[in-house]
Amino acid sequence: MIVLGIETTCDETAAAVVERRPDGRGKILSNVVRSQTSEHLAFGGVVPEIAARAHVEILDGIVQRALTDAGRKLSDIDAVAAAAGPGLIGGVIVGLTTAKSIALVTGKPLIAVNHLEAHALTARLTDNTPFPYCLFLASGGHTQILAVRGIGDYVLLGNTLDDAIGEAFDKTAKLLGLGYPGGPAVEKEAERGNAKRFELPRPMYGRPEADFSLSGLKTALRLEAEKIAPLNGQDVADLCAAFQLAVTDLVKDRIRAGLKLFRQRFGAPTALVAAGGVAANQEIRKTLHHRALEGGTVLIVPPAALCTDNGAMIAWAGVERLALGLTDRLEVAARPRWPLEEVIGKIKAA
Ligand code: KG4
Ligand code: ZN
Repeated sequence: MIVLGIETTCDETAAAVVERRPDGRGKILSNVVRSQTSEHLAFGGVVPEIAARAHVEILDGIVQRALTDAGRKLSDIDAVAAAAGPGLIGGVIVGLTTAKSIALVTGKPLIAVNHLEAHALTARLTDNTPFPYCLFLASGGHTQILAVRGIGDYVLLGNTLDDAIGEAFDKTAKLLGLGYPGGPAVEKEAERGNAKRFELPRPMYGRPEADFSLSGLKTALRLEAEKIAPLNGQDVADLCAAFQLAVTDLVKDRIRAGLKLFRQRFGAPTALVAAGGVAANQEIRKTLHHRALEGGTVLIVPPAALCTDNGAMIAWAGVERLALGLTDRLEVAARPRWPLEEVIGKIKAA
């Protein structure tokens, strides 16, 4: 089974070809990602209209390259999958419409993939992880702890009440003049910073529910920065280190609560799986690793290139859905908002 996957929900234009072997294991035949970082750099964040236009300009070429790299023709694929949301709607429409056109021309099935579901299932592509597992999904738009029990069977255990973790990293970077995207920049600065120099709050710490709150931390950081302005290089590094330590502490505590809720409701998870761009952060990874061991399970984190947005994860979600006969009609709509719990799978549809 071979699926072409297309991803255009944010600022990465991506396409990939993924195969599922007879034993159920996945193989990435190609994975082409083009980041629009340079287009958005001057604005300190993603500009939706610029993103949509850039997707239009290069997507056809990216799809062509994904096929060429995989050594396949359109006639070799079994289905075409595209992220149909959630995301910036202009970009989502570009990717989904392209997939619809390919489906129409080739007569192959279309699969409208939820972008979050694709992040959630990546561990099955890379590690063949069995259900049910506990998922920590942390990206620029989402911070959630979920029970992944099957395709289309996702139970929300914890959510952010305000900002996403990636968004907090991005805003911190912007405040400190580190540019965009913020996560990697803050992580790099934090390496040479003294985290103990500033006392930052850890909202929600110790609470039994598994929710997150980041906005108080963000405000506290801004106030500390204003107190010592103008900032020199060491100030920036120290602020980054303090921020990253506070977030890492929060993740540690909130995952503890999430794993506890998981066990109470569903028994032992097969793994703690991390997904989304924030999982690229080494300190957060270390914390998740310890947390998983303490919680009697293992941590699975896909390689960084598969944690951030890419086409292979969309293609793989397409593979998983195609295997269950879950294809979509050409009329399917692009969705700016599409919570993971609303994704329908076989169990709920039956
Ligand atoms: O999953 P992703 O590529 O795109 C979304 O769907 O949002 O995640 C991007 C987010 C950005 O907010 C970025 O700052 C954050 O992930 N990120 C990081 C790191 N690398 C990316 N955050 C912390 N540390 C990192 N190393
Ligand atoms: Zn994403």
